[in-house]
Amino acid sequence: MLLSHTLGLSRAALLAHPERVLTASQYAAYAALISRRAAGYPLPYLTGRAEFYGLEFEVTPEVLIPRPETELLVELALALQPHSVVDVGTGSGCIAVSLAVLLPRVVVYAIDISPAALAVAGRNAERHHVADRVHLLTGDVLSPRPGPVDLIVSNPPYIPSDECALLPPSVRDYEPRLALDGGPDGLAFIRRLLKEAPTVLRPGGGILIEIGATQGEAATTLAHAILPRARISLHRDLAGRDRVLQVSDIQTD
Ligand SMILES: C[S@@+](CC[C@H](N)C(=O)[O-])C[C@H]1O[C@@H](n2cnc3c(N)ncnc32)[C@H](O)[C@@H]1O
Repeated sequence: MLLSHTLGLSRAALLAHPERVLTASQYAAYAALISRRAAGYPLPYLTGRAEFYGLEFEVTPEVLIPRPETELLVELALALQPHSVVDVGTGSGCIAVSLAVLLPRVVVYAIDISPAALAVAGRNAERHHVADRVHLLTGDVLSPRPGPVDLIVSNPPYIPSDECALLPPSVRDYEPRLALDGGPDGLAFIRRLLKEAPTVLRPGGGILIEIGATQGEAATTLAHAILPRARISLHRDLAGRDRVLQVSDIQTD
């Protein structure tokens, strides 16, 4: 993949022409990539690309590398057929843009506190021709308040602060701390999102939030405490681990 990236050729083209000889500068560029990768630097940051939900996204070190388990959140959102969505903590825009591509009439508000991340999300919306329906907002959780919308989706930072140091070095050393650190119990962002959600939802709207594999019980308890009249459920990922908290039928202000 690094050689294909260096030469701007597909992997099939490389395999079809194994006799190709690299120029000195091509070799130098390739060797430099190999040594960064060998030092643990993530492959998607080297190539600037990651695949998510069958689509290709630009990624830079300012955004989290989209993860396959987040595709569950997109699947659940698609099943609800919303007309309007807010994606809180949009990062690369992988969730917002995938929904806009797959739901041709949906309008998505994509919020992030990081202007650098929003710039990447904007380029991804353009790349997939949905920039007219993906509205980028620099914001802190749900402020400024978009909407009202049918659905809130979020893959928030949810790693407890003191567990960030225990993450694999390729994550801990290179992915943005802002995208990972969920405060002392990992639930700080989720707590705020659940509290602020009724102010942006239409009556009967819902929320889908990605959570850590061990946070199912704590996140359910939190949702019951903050939104006692809503319907609350957990969804498991393909590995059978709790992954998405769904809160439905939310009473609005
Ligand atoms: C786990 S990443 C998710 C990125 C992307 N949605 C994905 O699924 O790959 C969380 C994102 O939340 C953003 N973020 C962190 N704190 C925030 C806040 N208070 N308000 C809005 N966005 C925030 C980070 O900048 C980061 O882009």
